[in-house]
Amino acid sequence: MTKLEKINWGAELNTDLVNDAVQTALKTKKLFRYQYKETTSDVTHLEKEITEYVNCKYALAVSSATNGIFLALKACGVKHDDKVLIPAFTFVAVPSAVIQAGGNPILVECNDQYVISLGDLKNKIIRTRPKFLLLSHMRGHMPEMSKVVELCKAFQVVLIEDAAHALGVKHNGKMAGTWGDIGIYSMQSYKMLNAGEGGIIVSNNEELMWQCIHMSGAYENNYKLHMIEGRGGNKYRCQLPVYNCRLNNLSAAIARPQLQRIENTIVQTNKNYMLFKEKMKDFKEITFPLSDQYLIDPTRLENLIPEGVLAGYTAMNRPVRDSIQMQIDLDEKCKLSLLHLCNGQNIPISYLGGTNNANARLFWNWRFLPYSIRYEDICKYTKSILDNVFDLRLPLHFTEKETLAVAEGFAAFMRRLTGKEVTLK
Ligand SMILES: Cc1ncc(COP(=O)(O)O)c(C=O)c1O
Repeated sequence: MTKLEKINWGAELNTDLVNDAVQTALKTKKLFRYQYKETTSDVTHLEKEITEYVNCKYALAVSSATNGIFLALKACGVKHDDKVLIPAFTFVAVPSAVIQAGGNPILVECNDQYVISLGDLKNKIIRTRPKFLLLSHMRGHMPEMSKVVELCKAFQVVLIEDAAHALGVKHNGKMAGTWGDIGIYSMQSYKMLNAGEGGIIVSNNEELMWQCIHMSGAYENNYKLHMIEGRGGNKYRCQLPVYNCRLNNLSAAIARPQLQRIENTIVQTNKNYMLFKEKMKDFKEITFPLSDQYLIDPTRLENLIPEGVLAGYTAMNRPVRDSIQMQIDLDEKCKLSLLHLCNGQNIPISYLGGTNNANARLFWNWRFLPYSIRYEDICKYTKSILDNVFDLRLPLHFTEKETLAVAEGFAAFMRRLTGKEVTLK
């Protein structure tokens, strides 16, 4: 049995997987993407491979998702004081990128499924008449996207998808990040592709992509080294500010082998999630997201994993659960005890409620927002939901044994706090 205290919760890079690619990249002695005079850098290959994986036309690798969001906002035309709607449950980098682009972030309520409330979205579109919606698929959760797209079309709102945490999530047959005008993924160490840092912008819109390419730092003739069909890029030459947030070749070399194996990683990650969840089944106090219904039974996956890839797997909806969100119905004292017990025993869970909580995903901690009203009055419903949520990352390297050790440790604390005599199998 794996000991809880031995578990490493940090992001582990699979060096066996990436070593050859890194060595090959090093041998070129070229780290800067534009040192390759043809379109053969690892960065360019990564861009091509991402377009194939998510099924869209264009991709641009950048230095982080936050910088990617910033470039996307600029390319979409965000100007000084433009209103940009964002969900109230997202990561602090999201409102920050809006502010960096000169925009004014307006928070929209989220529901108990961690996604934007379509009712509040419509209200805020009608009331504030924004030109932009920057929609985060926080923790990989997605709203009914056809309705979001319909609303945006009806009110001429540009849809930018922050899919930083949602690479591989499929909703109604389409990948997260490809529903809107432009989308962004993260390659920061805790995401599905661990390049240390990095981001990827995707779009089917050539004009938006050319602008992102120029602004990311393709100065002079470097834009010609991008694999975009058509030669429209020269139109923006010398016309746009250059923010230099390119990805370097070594980071791309680290990401590429991981992308090749991403479907296997997703299978294992979802399997771990389901193992954890299974151990919680006797605790009626815990509520998991409804979209868990789209996870396939691990006993079926058992046969699929050794084959390498779920090549024929064509589910219309496929969550990617590299983190666990649980709404836990206990009184505040018990919730704080649970937090304390977990953190004392090497289960670094986050409790999104409580006081004195500096979690960067809580909008009431974004004191830099240009609001004159009390933060507590902004999105009360979202706050009431988040106040019950425990959030736990499931690192991609976790084995079944490690996952079970965590689940059993957590279940033991729950038993202690609820006074239940549950026999765990
Ligand atoms: C929802 C969301 N958006 C954006 C980001 C920013 O990504 P990056 O660290 O690549 O800038 C994160 C990072 O955690 C995130 O979770």
